[in-house]
Amino acid sequence: MTQHLLSIGDLSPAAVRGLVDLARRQRRVRRRARPLAGRTLLSFFQMPSLRTAVSFDVAMTSLGGSAIDYASERSPWAKGKESVEDVARVLSRYVDVVVLRMHGHDEVARFAANASVPVINGLTSREHPAQVLADLLTIEDALGRLAGVRVAYLGDALNNVTHSLLLAAPRAGFDLTVACPDDPAYAPDPGVLAAARAARFRGVRRVRLEVTDDPRAAARGADVVYTDSWMSYRIDPTLEARRIHDLTRYRVDAGVLAAAPDAVFMHPLPALRGKEVTADVIDGPRSVVFDQAENRLHMHRALLLDLLRPGPRAPRRSARG
Ligand code: CP
Repeated sequence: MTQHLLSIGDLSPAAVRGLVDLARRQRRVRRRARPLAGRTLLSFFQMPSLRTAVSFDVAMTSLGGSAIDYASERSPWAKGKESVEDVARVLSRYVDVVVLRMHGHDEVARFAANASVPVINGLTSREHPAQVLADLLTIEDALGRLAGVRVAYLGDALNNVTHSLLLAAPRAGFDLTVACPDDPAYAPDPGVLAAARAARFRGVRRVRLEVTDDPRAAARGADVVYTDSWMSYRIDPTLEARRIHDLTRYRVDAGVLAAAPDAVFMHPLPALRGKEVTADVIDGPRSVVFDQAENRLHMHRALLLDLLRPGPRAPRRSARG
C-alpha cells in the first residue's frame, strides 16, 4: 500500500521520531549522494507559497531527483473539468511523488486514495503536517528535547498549524496551550481537538492540551511561544478589519514574552509585523523563525527519502497503548 503524509494524526510516535532524526542527519550532510536520481516530484499548489514550494524543489533536486511545478491554473481539475480521482490516477503514471496545497483536506485525501505514488500534504485548510514536523526539529534544537516542553500558541487557532501542533503533541510528548477568542471562528476544530486529546501512545508521556481565551495565562512559563498569520490563505480579505479587532489581544509582543522569560518565539511565516507579532519580537534575539524556515528544507529531504525509500517500510500507524 502506498504511504502518504496527509496528517500528523496518521503517524506513530516512532515515525515522528524517525523523521526528526533523519532531517537532522540530512542537515549535517556535506557531500550529497543522489539517492533519488531518476525520480520526479510534482508540486500542485492552489494557494501561494514561498517556503513549501521552493524547499520541496530544492530538497528533491539536491537528492538527485527532478521537480515539476505544475501551475494549478492550467489544470482541468482546477477548472472543474476533470475529477480528482482521474487526475490522481494519471499523475501516478508520470511522477513518483506529489505535493499538494489545496483548501480542501478531503480533496487531498481523495487524491491520495486514488494515487499509486506517495502524496504529501503541503497545506490544507485543516492541517500543515510538513511544517509542524520541521518545527519539532526546531524545538528540539532550541531546547534539547521535545518531551515535557510547554508550547503556547496564541491567535487564530482554527488554523492548520494549530491542528497539526495539537496532533503532534501526544506523539512527541509536549504540552500545548492554545489561547484564542472564545468563538468557533477562531477556536480549534472540535474534531481535531478531540482526536488529539484521545491519542495515547505507549512510551510517550501523557500530555496536557488546553484551550483558553487568556493569552498571558497561556504564555506564563512556556518554553515556546508560537503564533501564525491572522489572515491565512483561506481567509476572505474582506474579513481583515474584523479579525484584527478580534485578535489584537492575542498579538505576541514584549509583554507576552515577559510572561515566558525563557521561551523562544516561533512563527511558520509569512508574518505581518504589527499584526500577530510585533517587530521587536520576531526580529529579536529569542526568535528562531529563520531557523524554523531553514528546517523545512531538511525535513522535506527526510520526507522524500522516507516516502521514496525502496522496499517495504515499517508500518506508520502504531497500536495505541
Ligand atoms: N509556512 C509556509 O508554509 O510557508 P509558505 O506558505 O510560503 O509555503
